[in-house]
Amino acid sequence: MRVLVVGGGGREDALAWKIAQSPLLDKLYCAPGNAGISRWAQCLPIRADDVAGLLDFARRERIDLTVVGPEAPLVLGLADRFREHGLAVFGPSAAAAAIEGSKAYAKDLMRRCGVPTADYRVFHHPADARDYLAKGRGPAVVKADGLAAGKGVVVAPDRETAIQTVEEIMTRGVFGQAGRAVVVEEYLQGEEVSLLALTDGETILPLVSAQDHKRVFDGDQGPNTGGMGAYSPAPCYTTDLAAMAEAQVLRPILQGLAGDGRPYQGVLYAGLMLTEDGPRVLEFNCRFGDPETQAVLPRLRSDLLETLWAVTQGELDRVQLQWDERSAVCVVLAAPGYPGDYPQGLPITGLDEAAGMADVQLFYAGTACENGKIVTAGGRVLGVTALGDNITAAVQRVYQAVEQISFPGVHYRRDIAARALRRSGG
Ligand code: AMP
Ligand code: GLY
Repeated sequence: MRVLVVGGGGREDALAWKIAQSPLLDKLYCAPGNAGISRWAQCLPIRADDVAGLLDFARRERIDLTVVGPEAPLVLGLADRFREHGLAVFGPSAAAAAIEGSKAYAKDLMRRCGVPTADYRVFHHPADARDYLAKGRGPAVVKADGLAAGKGVVVAPDRETAIQTVEEIMTRGVFGQAGRAVVVEEYLQGEEVSLLALTDGETILPLVSAQDHKRVFDGDQGPNTGGMGAYSPAPCYTTDLAAMAEAQVLRPILQGLAGDGRPYQGVLYAGLMLTEDGPRVLEFNCRFGDPETQAVLPRLRSDLLETLWAVTQGELDRVQLQWDERSAVCVVLAAPGYPGDYPQGLPITGLDEAAGMADVQLFYAGTACENGKIVTAGGRVLGVTALGDNITAAVQRVYQAVEQISFPGVHYRRDIAARALRRSGG
């Protein structure tokens, strides 16, 4: 098969790495890819959101399957355009991708389908949101309706901050059109877990659980990031919870989407908060998680390409996934200043030493190749994943590998998987 992966981050490196292991693969492309993805794929100078450019390429090169990493091209209708031309795509239509592209739609759908989620109100006018917030007390969560590059959610400790946030989003328009409406949501507390499930619209095939680390500093301090590390499995996600999530979250939402004339195909990501009153959905994403994918795919023993193809053909009922029982831990190495402004072009050393270690896999994110040398080219630079017989062993291994790698100002969390270690008494 001739396969095109769309995107250029650590998640796409993990997808490309796994797809490249398939005996079904003839040729792998990635647009735009990055310095590490070129280990497995031919990288193309086409942006991930250049739907017309990607379609031209896929038609010209007779691509059999296109696998979309990020949400933006899906929300822009990449899957719709490709399917109009008879091209198979792993990923939902624009209408179904609204589950991530519009938080107001996602919340209303959850309410209609009886999916447990935080109480909320949707506002189209800043004055209404202000009035509502001024009536209550305590923390509140303000979310821009549309896509805001992962920055559209503010957990405000008090109402004053929440009202200020509404002002920034709706009046000053810091997220542009994405802030024309806001969701104001009840503040929830608990452990977070990422649930990823493949679906062809009929069959639901959950992947193994994972937990992300969204804050930049140890102990969940500092601002939110795209994700500073992940591990799999998440011990808090018991088989009971998994059964409950499938019955009370995944199945009703997929039925609801189909009922709205938006049948869903691809991977559905539910961000769950395990509260004292049971699990609540924080958000849905229409794509694989980053960096969850870098912790989950190294545990997959089955053929990923065959599986993704089955999703696009409506044949997921024929697939059974085999998993490595070991634990995986992924640590993200970030550029100095991330998630704020950061320099680029910093030379990276120690990559070969780390990559040569047993049970270690490097996934490249914001990287480029300059004069034959790998340099930084983004905020999240690398994901280092290690497998271990248990979570303690995986953590030990991953930090041994991380210590091999260096670039000026590199920072990373030293407490990835700490929750799981505490649970295991490690
Ligand atoms: P989201 O993009 O909706 O996942 O939000 C980003 C992060 O904000 C989540 O991973 C949570 O850590 C936090 N968050 C979102 N909604 C809530 C909520 N209702 N209560 C507390 N924290 C939240
Ligand atoms: N790791 C969070 C996300 O992919 O949205």
